[in-house]
Amino acid sequence: MTVPSTDGGGPDARQYDAIGARSAAAVAASASNAEYERPATIALLGDVAGRHVLDVGCAPGLLSAWLVERGAIVTAFDASVVMAEQAKQAVADRARVFVAELGAPLPLAADRHFDLMVASLVLHYVEDRVSVFGEFRRVLAPGGAVVFSTHHPAWTGRTPRRTTSRSRR
Ligand SMILES: C[S@@+](CC[C@H](N)C(=O)[O-])C[C@H]1O[C@@H](n2cnc3c(N)ncnc32)[C@H](O)[C@@H]1O
Repeated sequence: MTVPSTDGGGPDARQYDAIGARSAAAVAASASNAEYERPATIALLGDVAGRHVLDVGCAPGLLSAWLVERGAIVTAFDASVVMAEQAKQAVADRARVFVAELGAPLPLAADRHFDLMVASLVLHYVEDRVSVFGEFRRVLAPGGAVVFSTHHPAWTGRTPRRTTSRSRR
C-alpha cells in the first residue's frame, strides 16, 4: 500500500488507523501497488501451498487472502488495530491475524516455525531493523525465506521545507 505522507515522512501505524477508516482497500488498489509492487512480491513467493507463512504488516490483508486462497497456512499481523481488523475480515477464519509492533519481540512463541515470511512495504517504518531481523531469524524455519519490499526513499523521504525570503524574516 503506497500512501503519500503529509509531512514528507512515512505514515506510522496511527496514520494507518485513520487510513483504514477511509477504506484501506481503495488505497491498496493504487496503481503502484496493484500493478507494480504486489505482482513483483507475489512472483518471489513461489508455491505457497501447505507452507506456514507470516504476513508482516498485513494492512487490509490483500496478501494474506491471496496466500490463503493458494493453500498457505497464514499468520498475519499489523501494528494498526484498524488494519488488523480489516485483514481479519478479508481472511475470515482462514488465518490467524493479530495486532503487534514490528521492532519489539513478536508474540509468537514457536521458534523456527515459518517456511516463508513476507514483509511488503513495511520495514522502512521501523528504525531498529537489527531487532526486526533478529526476530525474523528466530521464527524462520531452517531453509526458510523472507521476501520483503520497501519504498524507494524518493517516495517517502523527508523533503526540506521550502524557504522563501519572506519566511526567513
Ligand atoms: C504500506 S502498508 C503495507 C501493507 C501490505 N503489506 C501490502 O503490501 O499491501 C504498511 C503497513 O505497515 C503497518 N506498520 C507500520 N509500522 C509498523 C510496525 N512497526 N509494525 C507492524 N506494522 C507496521 C501499517 O499499519 C500498514 O498497515
